[in-house]
Amino acid sequence: MDDDTMRAVLFDRYGGPEVLYVSRVPRPEPAPGEVLVRVRAFSVNGGETAARSGRLRLLTGRKFPKRVGLDFTGEVAALGAGVTGIVIGDRVWGVMGRTGFGSAAEYVTLRAERLGRVPDGLDLVEAAALPVATTAITALRDKARLRPGERLLVRGAAGGVGNAAVQLGRAYGAEVTALARAANLDFVRTLGAHHAIDHRAVSPSELGLFDVVLDTVGTDLRAFRRLLSPGGRTVTIAFDLTRLAASLGYIAASAVHGRGRVRFFSGNPTRALFDDLAREVSEGRLRPAVDTCFPLEETAAAHRALEAGGVRGKYVVKVD
Ligand SMILES: NC(=O)c1ccc[n+]([C@@H]2O[C@H](COP(=O)([O-])OP(=O)(O)OC[C@H]3O[C@@H](n4cnc5c(N)ncnc54)[C@H](OP(=O)(O)O)[C@@H]3O)[C@@H](O)[C@H]2O)c1
Repeated sequence: MDDDTMRAVLFDRYGGPEVLYVSRVPRPEPAPGEVLVRVRAFSVNGGETAARSGRLRLLTGRKFPKRVGLDFTGEVAALGAGVTGIVIGDRVWGVMGRTGFGSAAEYVTLRAERLGRVPDGLDLVEAAALPVATTAITALRDKARLRPGERLLVRGAAGGVGNAAVQLGRAYGAEVTALARAANLDFVRTLGAHHAIDHRAVSPSELGLFDVVLDTVGTDLRAFRRLLSPGGRTVTIAFDLTRLAASLGYIAASAVHGRGRVRFFSGNPTRALFDDLAREVSEGRLRPAVDTCFPLEETAAAHRALEAGGVRGKYVVKVD
C-alpha cells in the first residue's frame, strides 16, 4: 500500500447508471475488531440499482456522495486490534449488510465476524457471485424450512438470489419450478430446475400448488400466496417499490389474514452463515453463476446490464 487513498465507485445525485464514476477516496483503516480487505471483486445487486436510481430515497436520504457495492471477495490486508480467527492473507467473502454500501472499491473495512473464508480452489472473481446466496440459504433452510419432496416455486429464478435458490432447492431434495423469462429457461434448467416456466406466458393461477413459494420480485404477492397448499410457506425478500406502503401493509397483514404468514427478512449474514455457504460450495450443492465480468471502470455498464433485464446469475465486477 503506497499511499493512503484508493479507487472507489461513487455518485453525487440519484439517476441512471451514468451517475456512477470512479474516483480516489481515503483508504479506510480497520478500527478495533475490524478487518481491512483488499477487494478483488464484487457483484451488482437488485437492491443497489434501486438505491442508485433514487427509488429508495426515503431510506437512503440526500447526503452525497454515496457509494455502491454490497458484497465482495478479497484478501485480508490488515487487522484491527483484538481480531481473532482471521489472519492477513486469508481469502474472504462478505456482505456490507446493514452497515451500508461501499464494496465497489479497492478496500473495505468491516467487523471480523461479518466475513467468512472462501473455499480453497474457488476463484475470487467467480466467488463474488455467491455472497448473496446466503439470502437463499436463509430463505429456504431457515424461513421456509424446505423439506425433501416438497414442491418449491422460485420467482425471479435466473437472478442473483434466484439462481442460488434453484440450485439449493434441488440439492435439498425439493421438486423445483423456476419462473424466468423465456430466454433464460434453459439456464434455470441447467441450475437444476425440474420445471422451467416463462413468467410472461402464464398467469400465476395456472401454475398449480406449491409447498414453498420463494419470491425475489416483490410484486403480485397476493396471487402467488394463493398457490400455497395447506401448510405451505411464502417467503419474500423484496417489496413492490411502486406500491411500497401497500406492499409492506400486505406482508404485515398476512400474519392474521389468508393462507399463512408471508415471511420477510432482511439478510445480515455473519461468519456462521458464510461457513454454511462455503460448505454448500465445497460439497457440490452450489456453484457460482457469473453472467459477465466487468472491470471497475465499467461498473456503470454492469448496472445498466442488470437494469436491462435477462441476467443469468450475477454481473460481477473485477477490481484489479
Ligand atoms: N431481503 C434481503 O435480505 C435481500 C437480499 C438480497 C436481495 N434482496 C432483494 O431481492 C430482489 C432480487 O435481488 P437480486 O439481487 O436477486 O436481483 P436480480 O439479480 O436483479 O434478479 C431479479 C430477478 O427477478 C426477475 N424479475 C424481475 N421482474 C420480474 C417480474 N415482474 N416477474 C418475474 N420475474 C421478474 C428478473 O428477471 P428478468 O431480468 O429476466 O426480468 C431477475 O431474474 C431485489 O429487490 C433485492 O433488493 C433482498
